[in-house]
Amino acid sequence: MSISQIARSLTPSATLKLNEKATIMRQKGDPVIHLGGGEPKSKVPFDAILATTGLLDSAEIRYTPPDGTVAMKKAIIRYTEEHYNRLVEPRQIIASNGAKQSLMVALQAILNPHEEVIFPAPYWVSYPDMVKLCQGLPIPVLPEDGTFYPKISDIEENVGSYTKAVIINSPNNPTGAVYSEEFIADIVEFCRKRDLYLIMDDIYNRLVFDNRKPSNCFNYVKDFGDNSKLILINGVSKQYAMTGFRIGWAIGNKDLIEVMTNIQSHQTSGPPTLSQKAAIGAINGVQSSVENLRVALENRRNIMIDNLNSFDGLKVTKPDGTFYCFVDFSHYNPNSVELAELLLEKVQVITVPGLAFGLDGYLRLSYCGSINDIREGIERIQWVLDPDAPNELYIGERKLVRDW
Ligand SMILES: Cc1ncc(COP(=O)(O)O)c(C=O)c1O
Repeated sequence: MSISQIARSLTPSATLKLNEKATIMRQKGDPVIHLGGGEPKSKVPFDAILATTGLLDSAEIRYTPPDGTVAMKKAIIRYTEEHYNRLVEPRQIIASNGAKQSLMVALQAILNPHEEVIFPAPYWVSYPDMVKLCQGLPIPVLPEDGTFYPKISDIEENVGSYTKAVIINSPNNPTGAVYSEEFIADIVEFCRKRDLYLIMDDIYNRLVFDNRKPSNCFNYVKDFGDNSKLILINGVSKQYAMTGFRIGWAIGNKDLIEVMTNIQSHQTSGPPTLSQKAAIGAINGVQSSVENLRVALENRRNIMIDNLNSFDGLKVTKPDGTFYCFVDFSHYNPNSVELAELLLEKVQVITVPGLAFGLDGYLRLSYCGSINDIREGIERIQWVLDPDAPNELYIGERKLVRDW
C-alpha cells in the first residue's frame, strides 16, 4: 500500500489500542482488570445532560460556528475568569473536538516543517505524533536529575534555532507530577524572553491532591495581548468525566486563534452542537461533581500507593494529581512492552508500557477505576512478578498455577 511519509512515521495511540484490546477480551468473557484507562468512571454532571434536552426535543441540530457557539465561548470566558482570574475576549477562544484537536490545530497553526517542539518526558503519548503530523520534530526532554520534575535548565539546554514551542503538561500524564509554582513562573518568563510559544496543557488542572491549589499560569503573564505566545489548553473530558462529548478549548492571542479557526473550519467545522450544550451545562452548573471526583481520586491514589508499597522491587513516586501512577518496574523487566504483555497474558491486567510515554522500564497504572480493581489488579501483578508469592491464584472461579 502506498501511504504518505508522515503517516508512516506515526505510532498508533498505545492507550486507545489497549482500550480496544480490553473490550475484545471482556466480550470473550475474560476477567480483565483495566489499569490502563484514561477516563474517570464517574457520571456526567446532571446539568450537562439537562442542558441538552431542549435541543434534542427541538429535533433541530445544526452546524455551529467553526470556533464554537457564542454561548460556549461565554461559558469558557466565565470559567477562565473563575479559575484563572483572567478576563479573555471571545476572539481569544476556540472550542474544539476535545483538547486533542485544540492542541493539534495550535501546532498546525505555528509549525513549519523541521521546526522543533520541546516537552518534558515522560510525556502524553500524542505529543510526538501530533508534532510529526505537522512535519515538525518532537524533542522530549528527560529531567537530568532523574525525577519527574523538569528544571528550566533541562528545557534551556535543548533550545536551538529551530525551536518553536514548548509544551508543559502539569498535572502530568503519565506521572501525576504537579510542577512547582516556581517552575511555571520561570517557564512563562523563559518562553516570553526567548520568543517561544508556550502551550500549557491544563486538562488535569483541577484534579490535584494533598491540599494543592490548581496552578494558574496567568499569574505570571505580564501581557496577554496580541503578541503573547501563550496558548492555554483545557476541556471538559477529565474534570467533568465527559470524555465522550469531545469538547476542549484553547485560549491564545486573537490572530493565532483566527488561524486555528481557519484550520479547524476545514478539518471538522465547529464541535458538535449537542456536545457544546452539554459542556456549557457542566461549566455553568453545580460544581460538586468535580470536587467529588477529585476526592475519590485522591482516595484511590492513596490505596494504589499503599498496595504498591507492599511490593518489593518497585520504585513508586506518589502522584500529586491526575489519575495515573508511573511506576518503575525495571527491577523485574527493563522492557516495558514485554512486561505489559506478560501481565495481560498471565493475569489479564492491562497496563500501559512506559515506552509509549518515552521512558522504558516503567508502567503507567491508572486509578480511575474501582477500588476493587486497584487492589486486585496489583495483587495479580504481584503474583506474576514476586517469586515469593504463592504458587496459585484465583481469578473468580479460575485457578491459575504459576508455570514460569
Ligand atoms: C495530557 C493530555 N492532554 C490532552 C488530552 C486530550 O483530552 P480530550 O479528551 O479533551 O481530547 C489528554 C487525554 O488523555 C491528555 O492526557
